[in-house]
Amino acid sequence: MTIHIGAAPGDIAPTVLMPGDPLRARWAAETFLDAPRCVTEVRGMLGYTGTWRGHPVTVQGSGMGMPSLSIYASELIREYGVTTLIRIGSCGAMQPHVALRDVILAMTASSIGTPSSTILREVNFAPCADWGLLQAAAAAAQDQGVTPHVGGIWSTDTFYDERPDLTDQLTRHGTLAVEMEAAELYTLAARHKARALAVLTVSDHLQTGQALPGDQRETGFAAMVEIALAAAFP
Ligand code: ADE
Repeated sequence: MTIHIGAAPGDIAPTVLMPGDPLRARWAAETFLDAPRCVTEVRGMLGYTGTWRGHPVTVQGSGMGMPSLSIYASELIREYGVTTLIRIGSCGAMQPHVALRDVILAMTASSIGTPSSTILREVNFAPCADWGLLQAAAAAAQDQGVTPHVGGIWSTDTFYDERPDLTDQLTRHGTLAVEMEAAELYTLAARHKARALAVLTVSDHLQTGQALPGDQRETGFAAMVEIALAAAFP
């Protein structure tokens, strides 16, 4: 057990899917895994372990934002020996050709800073996805009839952002979407020699103001979970 994860040693699989929302962790585990069982519920941040096509998999909520994800990902890697971490989450589209429900594979994640920034001093480290996972996810998406967008995203600390100029500059530079966790996940994975990827579903659009209604979120998110699992076990 760690401070924030109540699972016994051996209860966490080497491969972990990480949604921000703990209830989505429960939904993903109960929908896609065989024999899912709750292995941690400290602070309501649910984690489930089961199997997918015979492979052990854990689905662990990360909470919202990089500080929260950093706690769970650090404990998973350092204390439970997790080697593959795939974020499954929602994002806000930043380009006109990206639509609601589209799937994004985050090749890189820009940020102003992450919880890891202080140890990197003045270096603007470039957090990037694991190439093997990225390649496998792109192939899995094609197999499932989904054409993903692959490129850079923006990991912000500010959901209610009042910096339209900053969003405009990132959009000009081709950033596909905004979310709040991937940059720190990629940085931690790099530091600890783990593999990481963020597979995202567009839930809202910064340019059009459109947003998926709550009841349509789950069905749209199913494709993302299937792509993440197939990428982990190609
Ligand atoms: N996650 C989903 N939509 C988002 C948005 N618009 N900004 C930040 N994170 C998000």
